[in-house]
Amino acid sequence: MSDKTYRAKQHDRIRRKQKDNDDTVHHPQEKIGQIQNVLKGENGLKILELFAGKGNLSAIYQQYGKVDAYDKKLKTGDSYLEYHRLIAEGKIYDVVDLDPYGFPNRFFPDVFLLMEDAYLFVTMPKPFVNVLNGITQQHLTCYYGMGNPTLEVIVKKIRLYGLCHWREVKLIDELDMGRLWRLVFSVKVVKATEYCGVKNRPDKKDIEKIKNKPVQQLMFE
Ligand SMILES: C[S@@+](CC[C@H](N)C(=O)[O-])C[C@H]1O[C@@H](n2cnc3c(N)ncnc32)[C@H](O)[C@@H]1O
Repeated sequence: MSDKTYRAKQHDRIRRKQKDNDDTVHHPQEKIGQIQNVLKGENGLKILELFAGKGNLSAIYQQYGKVDAYDKKLKTGDSYLEYHRLIAEGKIYDVVDLDPYGFPNRFFPDVFLLMEDAYLFVTMPKPFVNVLNGITQQHLTCYYGMGNPTLEVIVKKIRLYGLCHWREVKLIDELDMGRLWRLVFSVKVVKATEYCGVKNRPDKKDIEKIKNKPVQQLMFE
């Protein structure tokens, strides 16, 4: 008899369905409804779909503009490699969709370089309903500071990842889909000086004030 726990067996079943690209594990109908709500009235958009699968969402996105879609299984591109290439080519999109089966964390923070005024759709597995082995816990700790982060922590950290590249990121929609969330963020470039309320060239008196302070103090004030 197998000594696997119920959760571990359930995890294996889901992995098998993912391998077969079964719609019950990637919820196209809920995702489509959310896309239609957020993009209502839009057209002529430049859309990037990473992990596009067989195109459930591509068919919808095409109603709103031109779609660049990548999926490794369909040999249209490895999303992890393509997004670095698109950044190197200076591409900018109005919509970016990250829809992997696992965590999308490896796209942060640099995916924000592909957006100036855009929507980011993200599929995020719920850490607490998944079987978190040591490697996943370490991975989550690297990206979110803890091995089993809540949605609040994840959203806060994604907003900070946006600011790494001076993008103001706001959560505008959230769908609870059982084992995962589907999140939508608005992303807008901000000027660092305006965002932080500081001047690029400090006044002479400001320079005098900070001149003799130890570096540590300047960093954490
Ligand atoms: C959640 S499904 C996508 C579902 C699709 N968005 C839909 O709604 O029909 C994840 C997809 O990622 C693909 N995939 C896995 N690793 C990949 C990679 N490194 N680059 C691109 N696609 C990948 C799988 O083939 C699978 O089709």
